[in-house]
Amino acid sequence: PAVDVARNLERWVKCVVMRTYAHSTLLEFAEAAPRLHVVNALSDTEHPCQALADLQTVKEVWGEWAGRTITFIGDGNNVATSLAQGAVMLGTSFHIASPAGYELPSNVVEQAMQVARHGAEIRLFRDPIEAVKGSDAVYTDVWTSMGQEAEAAERKRAFDGYQVTAHMMRHARQGAAFMHCLPAHRNEEVATDVFESPASVVFDQAENRLHSQKALLLTLMANRASGA
Ligand code: NVA
Repeated sequence: PAVDVARNLERWVKCVVMRTYAHSTLLEFAEAAPRLHVVNALSDTEHPCQALADLQTVKEVWGEWAGRTITFIGDGNNVATSLAQGAVMLGTSFHIASPAGYELPSNVVEQAMQVARHGAEIRLFRDPIEAVKGSDAVYTDVWTSMGQEAEAAERKRAFDGYQVTAHMMRHARQGAAFMHCLPAHRNEEVATDVFESPASVVFDQAENRLHSQKALLLTLMANRASGA
């Protein structure tokens, strides 16, 4: 069982970076091995390491977080959840446009709003064009996440109309960044010309996974050294 793996690893290493499906596996792991730092490298419900890199990237582009808006187009699952949580903590508002049945969960919205700062808000939309209006960045993710492959055809139908296109980008603020956590499916959730446009910061996001995750490990280890 996962708890035995955790108790083994706790004897050998200081930190585990774990990519899993069920979020509960991470929680069980952390509970079974309290001396071990457990970093979520992606679960079915959250992707906080991606959000760290994304928020570093927008700071590089905008020079600030407060008062800005990121609009997410698509599935309100792991990537959207962590980005919503992180963005509002820094004062960046979060819009999301999703088809029926794929919205950001209401408990995520409620919890995120409890830690929102500088007047940041979360707004849920059905219409992607309405959602991107006034946005400083437009973000999307795959329509079928890992582990959902059996739902691919159904999801393709559900997300019809949610592709990020050049037409959609024109409704955002001038110069708005295009963002994606990668890997991307060109001409599915994003049109190739948007993905390849000068507004696209997807490879800056990818690079910042390295820097932000190094910073995360350093922070965790530093806290350990100081006995915190
Ligand atoms: N939502 C995607 C993110 C991949 C980085 C997935 O879970 O597969």
